Amino acid sequence: MSGRARLLAAARREATDATPVWFMRQAGRCLPEYRALRERYDFMTVATTPELAAEATLMPVRRFGVDGAVLFADIMLPLLGMGVPFAIAPGGPVVPEPVRTAVDVARLRVIEAEEATPYVFDAIRLARRELGESAALLGFAGAPFTLACYLVEGKASREYPRTKALLYGEPEVWHRLMATLTEVVTRYLRAQIAAGAEVVQLFDSWLGLLGPQTYAEAVLPYTRRIFAALRGLAPAIHFSTGTASLLELIASAGGDVVSLDWRVPLDEAWARIGYERGIQGNLDPTLLLAPYPAVEAGARDVLRRAGGRRGHIFNLGHGILPETAPDHLARLVELVHLAGGGPSGERSGARQP
Ligand code: CP3
Repeated sequence: MSGRARLLAAARREATDATPVWFMRQAGRCLPEYRALRERYDFMTVATTPELAAEATLMPVRRFGVDGAVLFADIMLPLLGMGVPFAIAPGGPVVPEPVRTAVDVARLRVIEAEEATPYVFDAIRLARRELGESAALLGFAGAPFTLACYLVEGKASREYPRTKALLYGEPEVWHRLMATLTEVVTRYLRAQIAAGAEVVQLFDSWLGLLGPQTYAEAVLPYTRRIFAALRGLAPAIHFSTGTASLLELIASAGGDVVSLDWRVPLDEAWARIGYERGIQGNLDPTLLLAPYPAVEAGARDVLRRAGGRRGHIFNLGHGILPETAPDHLARLVELVHLAGGGPSGERSGARQP
């Protein structure tokens, strides 16, 4: 099986010859060739120049042999079309004029995605052509809640207190904001699929800040709307962290694959979510800073818990840390591919639940 076929089959819970693997934030951060590129161009230049973004997208496929290539972009890009300027600072995105009132929310624009960020879709078309069968192309977007965190807070934060104060204190403004972001994210992801993204991941990175009742009332209806709008177009992965108490609700949002962090054992989480969904994860990215034998033991534990079931996509529980040794990642890809007999076709469908 090609890397592309392997990842797409797992995303649809079909049989594969080996477990597919890719890494969140594989396109940037730890790669020397990416760092060299960034010495010549700043982040926004790379992200908004299709040839450069496609090149950064392909780098980890060449170096690591991963089965998925994640588009080089950032969750903040769709805000440009909404009329919200932002900057990418060393500590993360900064929104100089945060969105905090009914007037601010009413001013947000919803325009066609191809018009707002044409370079994103050109990068997808370029990357898809260059990837061939080597890897599937994953598109992505920030989920409405995680985008709202940056829009309302204006910068990265530990607790996002202003965001949660708006959610609790001004529900009408909050729901209007979420509805607007939902419309933008839906259009953005549908346009990515139309341009050639074969799987899409919704990054709800900061969802772990919410308890179940708040999640169910203030966020879940919007996430459901997005997955419903993608149904039948491409498999969708739902990512979050720190959400062990929300897993059943997350499954009910409707994504095809649930992406787990390392705080929850993969086998227990999959049983709670149900085997009719795929699972992505869930090695602790910090483990990659340890000597390789520890990485290997951790990876084998994840694979053992997945049990060879259809629908497991191997990944980290969150993004690669910049200090990670690229060689560890290359060895990890090889290990995941060879575990259970390796890509031979022998294993297809042999060990289903
Ligand atoms: O990490 C996650 O939770 C994933 C979702 C997410 C992305 N960007 C996806 C992404 C989040 C929460 C962001 C916000 C953001 N943007 C941050 C995090 C700050 C915080 O609040 O903790 C940062 C540092 C940025 C800016 C940014 N994005 C840079 C400098 C880069 C280049 C590569 C790097 O990591 O240094 C990105 C790329 C990026 N952000 C990708 C994705 C999926 C591209 C693909 C990839 O790197 O693999």
